[in-house]
Parts: sequence; C-alpha cells; structure tokens
Amino acid sequence: MQQKLQLFCIPFKKEYSHLLLFLSLILITYVCYSILSPLNQRSAIGIGFLSQLILPKTTSNSTLKSYCDYSYGKWVWDETRPIRKYTENCPFLDPGFRCQQSGRQELDYQKWRWQPQRCNLPRFDAAEFLRRIQNGRIVFAGDSIGRNQWESLICMLMQGVSNQSTVYEEHGNPITKHNGYLSIRFHEYNLTVEYYRVPYLVMTDRLPPHAPPQVRGVVRVDTLHWYSEKWIGADVLIFSAGHWWNKDKTTKMGYYFQEGGNVNMTMDVMEAFRRSLNTLKSWVMQNLEPGKSHVFFRSYSPAHYRDGEWNEGGHCDTNTKPETDYAKLEPEPLHNILISEFAKQMEIANQKVQFLNITYLTEFRKDGHPSSHREPGTPPNAPQDCSHWCLSGVPDTWNELLYANLLRIGFRTETRNWKLP
Ligand SMILES: *[C@@H]1O[C@H](CO)[C@@H](O)[C@H](O)[C@H]1NC(C)=O
Ligand SMILES: *[C@@H]1O[C@H](CO)[C@@H](O)[C@H](O)[C@H]1NC(C)=O
Ligand SMILES: *[C@@H]1O[C@H](CO)[C@@H](O)[C@H](O)[C@H]1NC(C)=O
Ligand SMILES: *[C@@H]1O[C@H](CO)[C@@H](O)[C@H](O)[C@H]1NC(C)=O
Ligand SMILES: *[C@@H]1O[C@H](CO)[C@@H](O)[C@H](O)[C@H]1NC(C)=O
Repeated sequence: MQQKLQLFCIPFKKEYSHLLLFLSLILITYVCYSILSPLNQRSAIGIGFLSQLILPKTTSNSTLKSYCDYSYGKWVWDETRPIRKYTENCPFLDPGFRCQQSGRQELDYQKWRWQPQRCNLPRFDAAEFLRRIQNGRIVFAGDSIGRNQWESLICMLMQGVSNQSTVYEEHGNPITKHNGYLSIRFHEYNLTVEYYRVPYLVMTDRLPPHAPPQVRGVVRVDTLHWYSEKWIGADVLIFSAGHWWNKDKTTKMGYYFQEGGNVNMTMDVMEAFRRSLNTLKSWVMQNLEPGKSHVFFRSYSPAHYRDGEWNEGGHCDTNTKPETDYAKLEPEPLHNILISEFAKQMEIANQKVQFLNITYLTEFRKDGHPSSHREPGTPPNAPQDCSHWCLSGVPDTWNELLYANLLRIGFRTETRNWKLP
C-alpha cells in the first residue's frame, strides 16, 4: 500500500517517466481509435465512454449533425410506447401482421424504443408529417417486407387524421398480400400512400424462345418492372429488396438472369442484383426530378429462423426479448454493401437519395416476428413467419427513421412556412 501510494506522490524517478509515457501512449491510441470509429461496437461500450470524459464539449452544431447516426444505438424498455401507438384496429393492417388477434399473448415486443447513441429520434408527429406531405405521393416499391413497412406508415399517419372514414383504398381493394398494387388515399390531405409489389424491382418474365430446358422463368436485370412508370412524380419513394435475391428464390427454382435477349446461365445472383440496381439507378436519373423526389433505399431486414430455414422447421416463437448477445448478430449482408454504394453514387449525381440503414437495429429484434401467430386459417403445421413483422412493431421504428431523415433535410419546409401566419 505504502509503495503504491508512493508511485503517485513522490517526485518521478526515471523508471516512472517511462511508465507514464507508455500509459499516455495507450490513452492517446484509445481516444483516437474511438474518434475514428465512432460506430464500432466495442468503442461504444467501453472506450467511447472514455472519450466522452476526455473530449472537450466544443463540438459545433454541424459536427453534431454529421455524427448523429440513427442507425446505431440500442433498444430501451419503454412501458409507455404502446399508449402512443396505433392498435390492431387500424383498418389497413393485413391479417398476417395482426399477431395479437392471431393469438399472441405476450406483448412485450411493443414496449421497446430505439435510442440512437448520439442523439434522440424526433417524436413521430403524424399531423406534422401530413401537413408537409399534403398534395403529395409516397410510393413503396419492393418485396412484402416493403408492404409491412407501408402498412405501418399508413397506420402511423392515421393517428393524425380526425375522421377515419376519409382514408380509403382508392379502388376499394382489401389489404391483402394477394394484391400487387394498392393505394391508400388520405382525402383531406390529397395524399396517396402507394404500394407496388416488385420483389426483384426488375421484370420477371416467361422463358424466351430457345431457352435451355432447366429454365422455368427469367429475371430481366436490364429492364425495370413496368410498374415503374407509375412511380414518376412521387415525392417520397422507398425501395426495398433483398429477400428474393438469393439462390433459393432464383436459380435453384429455375429462375435465371436475362440480359438483352439472352439468358445467362452462369450469372451469379449477387452480380445480377448489382446489375438490377444499376438499372434502377439509370431509371432514377432519367425519370425523377432532382429537387422534388426523395428516394430512400431501405437496407436489408434480417430474418430470425433458428434450427433450420423457413421450410425446414425453423422457428422464432420462443423469443420474447430482443437479442442481448452481440456475438449472435449476423455480419453485414452483402446486399447492403451494394445498396449503400448505389445510393452514394446517385447522391453524387445530384439526386436526393438516402440509404435507410435499419439492418443493425432490426438484427436485435428476433422477438418481433409473427412466428406461429400468422393470419387466421393458417394450418397449425405451416412454417413459422420469422421474416415479416407484427404491427404495431419494428417497422414503426423504420418509419420513425424515415421521418427523422426527411426532417433533417428540411423536407417541404417551404409548405410549412407558407402556412404560418
Ligand atoms: C446550435 O444551434 C442552436 C439553434 O439551433 C443555436 O442556438 C446555438 O448557438 C448553436 N450552437 C453552436 C455551437 O453553433
Ligand atoms: C448500417 O448501420 C450499422 C450500424 O450503425 C453499421 O455498422 C453498418 O456499417 C451500416 N451499413 C452500411 C452499409 O453502411
Ligand atoms: C392533389 O395533389 C396532386 C399532386 O399529387 C396535384 O397535382 C393536384 O393538383 C392536387 N389537387 C388539389 C385539389 O390540390
Ligand atoms: C367523416 O367522413 C365521411 C366521408 O367523407 C363523412 O360521410 C362523414 O360525415 C364524416 N364524419 C364526420 C363526423 O365529420
Ligand atoms: C454472363 O454473366 C457473366 C457475369 O456474371 C459474364 O461474365 C458473362 O460474360 C456472361 N455470359 C454471357 C454469355 O453473356
């Protein structure tokens, strides 16, 4: 004890100064490390704390903004969250996402709030969003996870509408997965929120003549889906893709990739995805007005099948809490690398394009899936659903991020100022 005290109290001897130099070096390395990689998980847990203590709080507003990354943070328990959310009585929910009505009894999955590490998410204000987007169009184009998010946004926006009968599907169609195109009109706001089912974004087609016998159909990587002509003029577009871009849902099923008139029997699925994104990029450049349309590309939404894939008895029904073991999180999907790269390229080319990065936050939420609580009429031995999401639920957070990103870029601030007295 005496000796230890001496280390700090007595004037430094030569040996100590070496030690001190060594310690300072470690400290400097740690601080630099945590500044340079603010998103690193370890730095966030241990070293980030150190940097908070040491770094002076002189960060200007603009640096704070660039640091504020909604994609990184943690889930915090929030008992009050369900009170502020829509319920399963929202008329635009697909039966497949109404988990409570399909028998799910523990509802803890609704009581988690996403807390970004360096900032707060702005509270989702449906009335404010409606005011900004009025006389506008929001388009969701993509796979069924995109429909999941679309339904979530509609129900979130409904909370800002006083007369619910003024919101309806334009063609009177029911909200089911069997419809490829649905458009919800918010009459009082002259707003439509539209969904287009385009799992690959590009066209799928019957076989071209003279195709090899193992080909059952083709994905045409150089031709965007014909629905795309309806997306022109939208104010906000949210694309989503990923779940169909794997071998199981393409080549293994006999769906090969076509470019020009030729089926390419060797093209790899990720290469095909890259080419399809390129096709989408050209479309964005040619068809969207740079100042008007805001494009979001939502990142990959992780699935949580355990002990087998969806068709092998994989399950998620025993999960009642988000994942807490960081070692169990999957690495970044290759899809995201490609998507974020394209988003960046389009941004550089003067389009308002953002990568909506929800993968990390969603990765934790193994508790948020319908699992065995699927739509009524599902046979008891049917596969569990561990890829879509119960509503209200996780996709609400994606839409909170969408809203936050629109606010950040000052989406339609003009309209708002113009309405002020
Ligand atoms: C940050 O912005 C607020 C208003 O948005 C302003 O009052 C404050 O002075 C700014 N701080 C710095 C350091 O620029
Ligand atoms: C998405 O966000 C997570 C968490 O911040 C990050 O680790 C990951 O690198 C991001 N992905 C891309 C492609 O930017
Ligand atoms: C409704 O919104 C569309 C744009 O989506 C616009 O062209 C049209 O003029 C608006 N109608 C009214 C009555 O304001
Ligand atoms: C609500 O809207 C419907 C359809 O526009 C209308 O018939 C009804 O009178 C409205 N109800 C109220 C209370 O304003
Ligand atoms: C098929 O696609 C690959 C790229 O994945 C390309 O290298 C090859 O030349 C293509 N084959 C034909 C016949 O076009």
